[in-house]
Amino acid sequence: MSNHTLPDLPYPYDALEPYISRQIMELHHKKHHQTYVNALNAAESAYAKASTPKERIALQAALKFNGGGHINHSLFWKNLAPSKSEGKGNGGVLPEGPLKNAIVASFGNLDTFKKEFNTATLGIQGSGWGWVGVNPSTHRLEVSTTANQDPLLTLVPIIGVDIWEHAFYLQYLNVKADYLNAIWSVINWEEAEKRFAEATGGAKL
Ligand SMILES: [Fe+2]
Repeated sequence: MSNHTLPDLPYPYDALEPYISRQIMELHHKKHHQTYVNALNAAESAYAKASTPKERIALQAALKFNGGGHINHSLFWKNLAPSKSEGKGNGGVLPEGPLKNAIVASFGNLDTFKKEFNTATLGIQGSGWGWVGVNPSTHRLEVSTTANQDPLLTLVPIIGVDIWEHAFYLQYLNVKADYLNAIWSVINWEEAEKRFAEATGGAKL
C-alpha cells in the first residue's frame, strides 16, 4: 500500500522536440507527475489510518485529484512518441488497421477526427484533459473531455491529451491551439492501436 512510484519516460526528455520541449517534459515528469505520486501515497496512507467515515470522506478529494493525476500522466507519457517527421521514431503516424478503420467509421477521416478532438479540448474551461475513447456499449470511438485531473471513466481511454498550462505554457504561451496542432506529430498511434485492440477485444465494429 502507498507505494506508487513515478514511471520512467519511455524516451529521453528531449525526444519530442521540437513539438514539446525538453524543459516542459522534464518539469512535467519530474516535478508535476512526481507531486501527484507523492500526494497520492500520502492520501492513501492517511486513508488507511482513518478510523471514522468523516475522516475518510475528508480524504476523497485528495484521492481523486492525485489518483487521477497519476493515472492520467502515466497514460500520457506512453501516448507520446518521438516523431516520424523528425526521423526520430514513429510518432504521428497512424498505420493502416482496425483503429484507423474505426476513426473513419466514427469521424469520416483522420483530419476531421483531429479537428473534433482539438475543438472539444480547446473548449475546456480551466484545466483538464481531452480524450478519445471507446464506448464500451457501442464499441465506437468518441471524443470526450474531463475537468481537472478527473480520469476518463465513461469510455475506455485510447488517447488523452493534457491541457493543463504546465503541459504547454513554457513553449506555446497562451496559444493552446498551436500546442494541440503540434501534439499530433508526437502521438504514439502504435500504443493507441494496442489500447484499441484491448478495449474492443477483437469484436467486430
Ligand atoms: Fe500534466
